[in-house]
Parts: sequence; structure tokens; C-alpha cells
Amino acid sequence: MKIAIISPNKIHLQDIGRGLETQSHLVILVEGGKNKMRQVAESDAPDLMLVDGMCCDPSELALVEYITLHHPMVAVILLCATQTPEFLINSMRAGVREVLPSPALPSAIEAAVGRVASKLAGLRGQPLGKVLAFMSCKGGSGSTFIATNLGYQLAESKSVLLIDLNLQFGDALSFVSDGRPTSTLADISHDITRLDASFLAASTVKVSPNFSILAAPEDLSRAMEVKAEHVDAILNLAVMQYDLVLLDLGRMVDTLTIKALDRAYRIYPVMQASLPHLRNARKLLTVFRSLGYAAAKVELIVNRFEKTSEISIADMRRSLNTEVLRIIPKSTNEVTASINRGIPIAEMARTNPVSRALAEFALAISPKPEETTSIFNRLFRRA
Ligand SMILES: Nc1ncnc2c1ncn2[C@@H]1O[C@H](COP(=O)(O)OP(=O)(O)O)[C@@H](O)[C@H]1O
Ligand SMILES: [Mg+2]
Repeated sequence: MKIAIISPNKIHLQDIGRGLETQSHLVILVEGGKNKMRQVAESDAPDLMLVDGMCCDPSELALVEYITLHHPMVAVILLCATQTPEFLINSMRAGVREVLPSPALPSAIEAAVGRVASKLAGLRGQPLGKVLAFMSCKGGSGSTFIATNLGYQLAESKSVLLIDLNLQFGDALSFVSDGRPTSTLADISHDITRLDASFLAASTVKVSPNFSILAAPEDLSRAMEVKAEHVDAILNLAVMQYDLVLLDLGRMVDTLTIKALDRAYRIYPVMQASLPHLRNARKLLTVFRSLGYAAAKVELIVNRFEKTSEISIADMRRSLNTEVLRIIPKSTNEVTASINRGIPIAEMARTNPVSRALAEFALAISPKPEETTSIFNRLFRRA
């Protein structure tokens, strides 16, 4: 666990810190009083805060309550020299997990931390959503078209959020909706301390019952407000709320995108069958290797493919030294009509080859549950 220890007493800090470090916790030591809690919660987002200090003043509990209210994922344990029954009751009301004596026995701290850890493990026992990142090898490859339309198809069986991280020129929402965002990524970043499940949901536009899009900032100046740590916090929450979190990353590789790529379960660079795309795809693959990503994390997509193309699939496999290439065919009229109208292609033209390729792609990511046609089941049903 990531544990922040806050104490005005240097010796307490070091003693507690050493004890927890030997149990493989990541420990942050903060010298000071309870007024440091908010800053620590916002900048370090620990799983647990151990707060040591004077505990006779009930008004101090307001600082604690701020944390339990605004950062519900952070558990709080207080270490108090004097514990009146009234203080204990008020602490529990303020959402404190436990109150221990100060200085506390290492065994008491270990046991209390253990209780928080097992609760956290229980919470995380539910599988977290997967992050799928889409990048353009070259502008206009079709990464936004594919991410938005694949999201729409995936949402037939999963809950899906698409985050438009193409900060400066993001236009993902308009590909599948004529809705206007009331709120964008910049608004969440601006108010990041308010971030919780309902704020996130309220900031998105619902394209279909299970498919929401968090739109990119509406202008360049607002785009500057979005920082890597905001994206990190949004992703932390999003994977708890959605089965799949799709990212439209555009084509910039910078600190913000790298942070997002680190979190991705799969990265899909989108290219076309041409030499400039091949060159860029190779460059991207080199970047991913240097970032230490396993080869299996990256799956290239060749979009707008035509059988008459001068460069064949086999050529591309050889040139990129990869077996995995997903092909999406070219279908200029239908794709253009779908984008111009802001209607997903599967809704407009379900049998179009592009819709079918996307359906197959969605099925590969999210296979249908096995049909219950085992012999046992059939016998049972007949009986
Ligand atoms: N499979 C396809 N067939 C035909 N045209 C396509 C296809 N995919 C995308 N396009 C066209 O390519 C253009 C650029 O797509 P877009 O998703 O905006 O690219 P990117 O996000 O990679 O810059 C779209 O406006 C669309 O007209
Ligand atoms: Mg785009």
C-alpha cells in the first residue's frame, strides 16, 4: 500500500516509517500537523494516511472529515496521546478507520494497517476495467473513427467510456453524436479535488446506454489546464466505473500520453498501407520498445485497406516484424456519411464491411460468454 505518515514528531515519523517499509509498503513521511492532510491527499493520493498528533481539539476533526468526504479512497488512522470517549466517537463519525494510542506499539500499527490492506484488497477484488489506447501513426489514419465506432460496438455488451485525450484538436464526440458536451476534460481537471464517480459520469456525454464520451477541452487555452496527474486520477476512477476505457490519443507522444500509455492494457497504433505510415509505425514501435512495453501490448491496425493496395499485408508484417495486424477495409462513402452525420457506422450501415470488421474487432476484445449448450445443459433442459 501507499501510506503517508504525518507527524510533528521526527522520531515517531522515522520509527513508524521504518516499521512499515520492512513490510513492503511505499511510505511517504510528512513532518507537520493535520493541516498537511489535504495537500498530501491531493498530491500523493495514498491508500492510507496515518496521522499522529494532538487530538484533544474536536475542531481538528473538520480537517479529517474533509479528507474522508473528498478523498473516500484514502483511509485515515489517527494516533492520539489522549483519547476521551467523546473524541473516539467524533473520530468515527468523521470517517476515521481507527484511533491508536501515540506513541503506538509497532504491533498495533501493523495490525491496523493490515486491516486496511485486507479491506482494500477486497475492494479491488472486483476486476478493474481495461484501458485501450488508440494512436494515429500519421494524422488522418482513422484512429478517432475507429476508437469511437469500436466503443459504440463494444458497448453492446460492456460499459465503455472513451476519453478524448487529443487535447488540442479533439473531435471524437462529433464522430458518433450530435450532442454538445456540457463539460469536458478541462472542467474535471480544473475541479480535480471534486472528482468522484458521479462528477465523472455527469461530465460525460452518453452516446448510447452503455457508451459515454468525455470530450476534449473546447479550446487551446483550456487544453493547457489538463496535466498528466489529472489524467492519472481520472483513469484511476474510470477503471473502477467502466469495463473498458478507450483513449483517443491523437499522435503526440509526450509525458501526458506516456503516462496514459503506461496504463494501457493494449495500444492500437492506426496506420494505412503507405510508406510514410510504415515509417511512422516503425518509429512508434521503437518508442514503445524503449518504454519497456511488451510486444504483446501493441496491436497495429491497418485502416482503409484495399486489396489492390501496392503494399500488401505480408509486406507490412515483414517490414514491421509483427504477426499481429488488424485490417479495417476502406469504405469512403459510408465512413464519410457516418462522420458527417455524427451517427455510428454500425447504426447507419450494419452490413458495411467496415461495420463488420469493427464488430469482429469488438468480439476479439470482449468475447461473448460461452453458449450454455453443454450436453448436461441440453439434457437438463429436455428433462
Ligand atoms: N475505413 C475507412 N474508410 C474510408 N475512410 C476512412 C476510414 N477510416 C477513416 N476514414 C477517413 O479518414 C478521415 C480521418 O479519420 P480520423 O479518425 O479523423 O483520423 P485520425 O484521428 O487518425 O487523425 C475521416 O474523416 C474519414 O473520412
Ligand atoms: Mg483524431
